[in-house]
Amino acid sequence: MGELLTEFPATVVLDRYDEIREALFNPNLSRTFDSRSYAEGNIRDGVVSISHGPVHRARRRIENTQFRPDVLRLYERDLFPTVLDGLLDVLIDAPTVDIFPVAELLSVVLAARRAGIDVDDSDLDQLRELVHYVDVFSQGSAILDAKDPEAVRQMVYEGYDAFERDWVRPSWDRRADLIERHRRGKIGDEDLPHDILAVLLVHRDDPKLELDDTGRVVREVATYLQGGTHTSAQTLVNALDLIFDQPAAGELVQRCAGDLLFSQRVIHETLRLRPTTPRIRRRAEADTVVAGRAVPRNGLVILDAIAGNRDAGLFGPNPESFDPERSVDPSVARWGLSFGAGAHQCPGRSVGGGFPIPADGHADEEHIYGLVALELRAVCARGVQPDPAGQPERDTRTERFTRWAHYPVRFERWHDPA
Ligand code: HEM
Repeated sequence: MGELLTEFPATVVLDRYDEIREALFNPNLSRTFDSRSYAEGNIRDGVVSISHGPVHRARRRIENTQFRPDVLRLYERDLFPTVLDGLLDVLIDAPTVDIFPVAELLSVVLAARRAGIDVDDSDLDQLRELVHYVDVFSQGSAILDAKDPEAVRQMVYEGYDAFERDWVRPSWDRRADLIERHRRGKIGDEDLPHDILAVLLVHRDDPKLELDDTGRVVREVATYLQGGTHTSAQTLVNALDLIFDQPAAGELVQRCAGDLLFSQRVIHETLRLRPTTPRIRRRAEADTVVAGRAVPRNGLVILDAIAGNRDAGLFGPNPESFDPERSVDPSVARWGLSFGAGAHQCPGRSVGGGFPIPADGHADEEHIYGLVALELRAVCARGVQPDPAGQPERDTRTERFTRWAHYPVRFERWHDPA
């Protein structure tokens, strides 16, 4: 029988950028705090985020294939711009709108495609239902920070059952059929979908993946759906929050509307200042040494990404300030540690944040800007501004201060359905 570790023989907190990176590359540190089975109460049993060692490597090897530059370009250039404009025309239907649910609906479209959940992009009811699951699974993935973990656990169990029945099963059956026809030579490679569920099904017999349990496939797909939605939506809202706080907010909005590379700079600066995982946690699988400090087996290591991302030696003399054009050495990511590093580094970093800004400041046609920059440009082009009558509300269900629940904004240009 496994156990949920809640007490630790030692706790080490690291807040320097280089020390945090060293910890993230340490093979003795894992994300596994709960070794119980799903039935015993571990709602994240077997998912890539909490796997460690050979299983984790095997999963990432096949899942990373869905984030290759050619697949990224297909999504960013062909699929997303049309979906983005179509959805914004429908969702920005009044001068005042809560931008947080809009951001979630925009992001869930791409995340569902990538995860392998078949959804009708133009059906808002379907998209809202998926966003509901994202919210449930996000609370599950932040369970270590939850104020009422037992309530979260119960909600997530029920969420997985319904998600499997209503969403994964139909998408699974379609893919299983295509994979079978492909094996019999009836269809070619180009007819197989490019998504996580499809690659998991193609490789499911590989024992290294430990995917024989159906529930694990469902939870892995849910992890990608959730990982790709909530983070991107929060980042868009945080970008607007930071822009609105600047004395020249109106000019910044105009620049973002007209210059996609500048929008991307804003997103990178937002990620640096507002990491969606402000405190990254690791557990020592064995006695180890991190940044010169001894950590015993089962010791807890807390990595303070907020502090690490404000290292003046790397990000300049005013690291607390919002400066999308700050000068940063090309060897350092402008988003700091906000996509993690090492074995668990975010596989969706280029989907959300795009490629690094080129050192000479010019993007060629191969460049990927990331979906959040595209979203920012699109809302700025509609003349977004703070809503003087509205009050943004933070999501206080976890200790993560970078999460919003509601963020009312006004638009100069909106689409009147009448
Ligand atoms: C702005 C957007 C995003 C942010 C800020 C973000 C942030 C992160 C961070 C910090 C981690 C590592 C956590 C740790 O090491 O403890 C992570 C992992 C992960 N992210 Fe993202 N992410 C974003 C977008 C995405 C997208 C678009 C996807 C999928 C399409 C995705 C899927 C995942 C998955 C599956 C993991 C777990 C990887 C592993 O444990 O090996 N993320 N993300």
